[in-house]
Amino acid sequence: MPSPAATEIAIVGTGYVADYYGHSLDHHRDGLTLRGAFDLDPARLASFVTAFGGRAYASLDALLDDPAVAIVLNLTDPHAHLEVSRRIIAAGKHLYTEKPLAMTAAQAVELRALAEAAGVRIAAAPCNVLGESAQTLWRAVRQKLVGEIRLIYAELDDGMIHKLPTRDWLSTSGKPWPASGEFEVGCTFEHAGYTVAPLAAMFGPVVRVTAFATLACPDKAMSPPPGGWAPDVSIGCLEFESGVVARVTNSIVAPYDHRLRLIGEQGVLAMAEPWHYDCPVRVRRSANDRVSRYLERRLGWLPTRSVPPVRPVPFQRKRGRPTMDFMRGVRELADALRESRPSRLDADFAVHVTEVTEMLQYPERFPSPAQVQSRFAPIDPMPWAR
Ligand SMILES: NC(=O)c1ccc[n+]([C@@H]2O[C@H](COP(=O)([O-])OP(=O)(O)OC[C@H]3O[C@@H](n4cnc5c(N)ncnc54)[C@H](O)[C@@H]3O)[C@@H](O)[C@H]2O)c1
Repeated sequence: MPSPAATEIAIVGTGYVADYYGHSLDHHRDGLTLRGAFDLDPARLASFVTAFGGRAYASLDALLDDPAVAIVLNLTDPHAHLEVSRRIIAAGKHLYTEKPLAMTAAQAVELRALAEAAGVRIAAAPCNVLGESAQTLWRAVRQKLVGEIRLIYAELDDGMIHKLPTRDWLSTSGKPWPASGEFEVGCTFEHAGYTVAPLAAMFGPVVRVTAFATLACPDKAMSPPPGGWAPDVSIGCLEFESGVVARVTNSIVAPYDHRLRLIGEQGVLAMAEPWHYDCPVRVRRSANDRVSRYLERRLGWLPTRSVPPVRPVPFQRKRGRPTMDFMRGVRELADALRESRPSRLDADFAVHVTEVTEMLQYPERFPSPAQVQSRFAPIDPMPWAR
């Protein structure tokens, strides 16, 4: 039987985030086709295929038995990732998984080995590194717009989410945002990839992690799961092989602050949201005279200018639609398969991001500083951003 076309995809897990993928499919009609989906919850599955098309498979086996499907997207909740991914790989399908690839580095390594043995590819979200903003930032780094980068501050503080009316947060097809699941998995496992992955792409592998994590707000105004809530704050220091150092925070406690700041010899490159594809990248010079020092100290302000974007974002912001193109990572995998080249978000990279994330969220599992074992081959910027 001929191998299935790389463009045929199917989705396992049609919860909250699946709608983001469904909407993002609009940007890839020329490269990806949705064959169908499966969810343990028939109502969730029905509303998804009604909204976005494709078949409602009767079971995971039925989906995996469809010879036309080349890539299966694992969009289940993180605690289900490992088992579902194992089955996808065992069925000989390429896997694109939402982050985290797995809940431990050891499990991520296991999945990579299984994929190698089965001759299939793994790629993992997040794919914000493939977005226009991250690519603009990366080009500014390569062009040394602020000289050599010496220090990075990467914040992913989301405010006290448990105090917000999260019950009202619904995806466009009506799925509630899974607050309890998110608090159980932990904001670091949920979010660190959005900064660790782009920084690793730009500066190479992380070699050491020094971290602290805690559960600062145990009362989430809902019943905790049997294992308790995961840490809701982590603060880490990453040392990259290239010598750059980054301070990264992840919390659902400190006030909303998603700033990513790359501090160079001559100034600072900054963006306010690492996951918005249309977030402007701004540059400011270092305070290096009396006037600029005064402005910075007294007013907390220095003039900034926009860095020209590598290209316009090829879609418009719309209410209820994601600010990221969630399918871009899937498209990258599909293109890589068609072009017989490695995907930019391949298994080695995903294992690395998972290992660093585990060190940030559960530092007590590792000696301090933790020595990162995983490495990955250098990643190319997108062709349109070179
Ligand atoms: N919620 C967000 O804002 C968001 C954003 C980006 C990425 N993500 C990631 O997306 C993934 C899914 O998150 P979500 O918010 O959509 O969760 P969710 O709980 O809303 O949806 C998960 C779905 O997977 C289904 N499922 C679980 N186990 C299954 C199995 N064995 N077979 C078939 N279906 C199964 C559940 O029934 C549920 O419908 C997670 O990895 C999360 O980290 C979430």
